[in-house]
Amino acid sequence: MYKSPEPRSLVRTWLLGVLMLLAACPGARAEKFAGIGRAATPSEIAAWDIDVRADFQGLPRGAGSVTQGEKIWVAKCASCHGDFAESPGVFPPLVGGTTRADSERGRVAGLSAASENSKTTMMKLATLSTLFDYIRRAMPFDAPKSLKVDEVYAVTAFMLNLADLVPADYVLNDKNIAEVQRRLPNRDGNTTAHGMLDIKGKPDVSGKECMRDCPVDINSLLLLPSTVNGLNGNLADQNRPYGSIRGIETRRAP
Ligand code: HEC
Repeated sequence: MYKSPEPRSLVRTWLLGVLMLLAACPGARAEKFAGIGRAATPSEIAAWDIDVRADFQGLPRGAGSVTQGEKIWVAKCASCHGDFAESPGVFPPLVGGTTRADSERGRVAGLSAASENSKTTMMKLATLSTLFDYIRRAMPFDAPKSLKVDEVYAVTAFMLNLADLVPADYVLNDKNIAEVQRRLPNRDGNTTAHGMLDIKGKPDVSGKECMRDCPVDINSLLLLPSTVNGLNGNLADQNRPYGSIRGIETRRAP
């Protein structure tokens, strides 16, 4: 039976976290899994560490104009998302459905309109950092991370211009992006006041899972039929030799 966490078990959870961090240190790992992997280099970590927070922490310096962005858009985005980011085919529509009144209010009326069957990215977007971050790490779909930082600024500026949030001669940069955030149509549209997220004033994501010495309750079991044993050699020899999940012996009995 699950018991609600007491302060002591919270301290234990915290200590476990620290231990896991220590285990992640190169020295400790080398001991545990000798000969497996190596520590990531600072430049490898830097290449992955590109997240931009809602308050723009992590935003790289740079700048890009709407005009430059349009060229990139035509060459690298329009084939999937359409000339005006309306995505006429199967891909998600990015721009459309927002009004000047939305931009003044900070909430998009069309999101709650039943008639609106296609909610665009620009309708839902509450933080401009998310758009920048997503394009930088995931787009173009067929060549992610291929855009230079200034190109990400430029193509973001172009999309903001399509949404009528910046003029055609605008140059977006790391200094003025926070000011554009304040024009975002759905900047105040996020809410936790609905069933999935709000339970008596608290988010519903507090962990209750048992992490240690948990009672095992096996209601179903998956077994390989003996007829397939040995069809692909011995699984025990093909799986990694450490950790709790090992390959089972599948050699046919002699
Ligand atoms: C080959 C097709 C393709 C190209 C080219 C492409 N995209 Fe996408 N884009 C997609 C697909 C597919 C998704 C949805 C991906 C997903 O949900 O995992 C997407 C999603 C997005 C989203 C997020 C939409 C949302 O609301 O979640 C943005 C923003 C975006 N693309 C911008 C761009 C930009 C900017 C470019 C050009 C630099 C670009 N895309 C090029 C296919 C493409």
